[in-house]
Amino acid sequence: MEILSFISLVVLFIIIAAILIVSIVFIYFTVSSGFMHSSPPVPSCGKVKDAMLKDVAEYLRDKEGKIVMDLGSGWGTLLLPLAKQFPQHTFIGIEYGRIPYMVSCLRAKKYKNARFYRQNFFDTDISQADVIFLFLLNSTMAKLSNKCISEAKKGAYAYANRFPIQGKEPQKEVSLGSKYYTYYIYKF
Ligand SMILES: C[S@@+](CC[C@H](N)C(=O)[O-])C[C@H]1O[C@@H](n2cnc3c(N)ncnc32)[C@H](O)[C@@H]1O
Repeated sequence: MEILSFISLVVLFIIIAAILIVSIVFIYFTVSSGFMHSSPPVPSCGKVKDAMLKDVAEYLRDKEGKIVMDLGSGWGTLLLPLAKQFPQHTFIGIEYGRIPYMVSCLRAKKYKNARFYRQNFFDTDISQADVIFLFLLNSTMAKLSNKCISEAKKGAYAYANRFPIQGKEPQKEVSLGSKYYTYYIYKF
């Protein structure tokens, strides 16, 4: 009897330890790029997400062959609804975090026009993009702004959620109530 309860205690301990290890590994791989590059995988959401998607949809409507990029694409939250709506355009997500990258690849299987790359966006060629989404902390935006300003195609648009591109005046600042619900539109 005593041996049996000892064995069940050991088994219980092993199960709890395994759950803990799996959770820690999952959290690490989900946020690892966030820790390294100081922008966690928090998706755009609510009225800002809806308003940005509506704006970009208006731009894409009646056009052909445009390229939309999301630098730090997270879970594919911005690109996938657009990919579904606009099969004639190409949607490219660049994401460093393993878990968000894998989830967005799985979600993108339904769409021939959406691709995700596990890459550091500082090494990405952004010169072909017609629209660039950015939702990154100020510290990351400080480093990425120069790249956008010097490498973005002439006439391309950038939509920066909450944190502006530094060193460039936005064409429009859209405030939906507070600084937490603000996005910036740039034309290069
Ligand atoms: C705040 S989330 C934004 C997700 C998505 N763009 C959206 O608006 O829903 C920022 C994402 O950028 C990714 N990221 C941060 N630095 C990166 C880098 N240097 N290269 C690629 N991805 C990066 C993070 O892993 C995170 O998923």
